[in-house]
Amino acid sequence: MSEKTPPKKHPTEPLSVLLALCQNGVDPENLPCSEKQRDHLFIHQENVGQLLVVARGENLFGGVLSPLKTFSSVLLAALLHDIGKVNIPEEILLAPRKLTSEEFTTYIHPHPIQSLEILGDDFIEKYPLAAQLIRYHHLYEIQPDRSLPDDPAFIEALFALIVCDKIMAAVEERPERDNFKSDDQVKAMLDNEIQLLIQATDHPLPELTDNDFELLYFQALKLRH
Ligand SMILES: [Fe+2]
Repeated sequence: MSEKTPPKKHPTEPLSVLLALCQNGVDPENLPCSEKQRDHLFIHQENVGQLLVVARGENLFGGVLSPLKTFSSVLLAALLHDIGKVNIPEEILLAPRKLTSEEFTTYIHPHPIQSLEILGDDFIEKYPLAAQLIRYHHLYEIQPDRSLPDDPAFIEALFALIVCDKIMAAVEERPERDNFKSDDQVKAMLDNEIQLLIQATDHPLPELTDNDFELLYFQALKLRH
């Protein structure tokens, strides 16, 4: 497929992210990061949320997103999952190069835990599924010796979040690369993630056919801004 960049949408204020933060007692104005970092994070989280809305509408992931209770938790997790990245210095978060593995381990790996620290104990207690999804939304968080919660419903919801997060991240503009990733590249990356997830749980993952993937990928290209 062509990697020609489609016309960009006008940036929009990700109101749902602001709302989700405010509802959970976090003042978006007082996050310890620059406006550039904040925009980068908020727009990504908003995009992931929008892709999950598409997935629910298309009844993907075996219908795991259909019950409103589950969906609201997954959506909340999507809108807040990377908020811990506000702690990452701008020169690292928005570095126009690939990070070293040391930088990745030092600065990027802790962000799911830091997201929960920012959201606080009340959030974890009030939204246990969303909190768990945030905690485990990167497989490196469960490697090599951590395991996932033994809950089939959680595993299904986590799979939906990880797939939408990875696809969206791969097609958004990023300072370290010129082009978004092709569908073949993203599919290969996702296959790798799925293998890790299969190894980390005894529960079956929801189905994601090639058609499902293509639908999400091309929707992600349209949604990104
Ligand atoms: Fe993340």
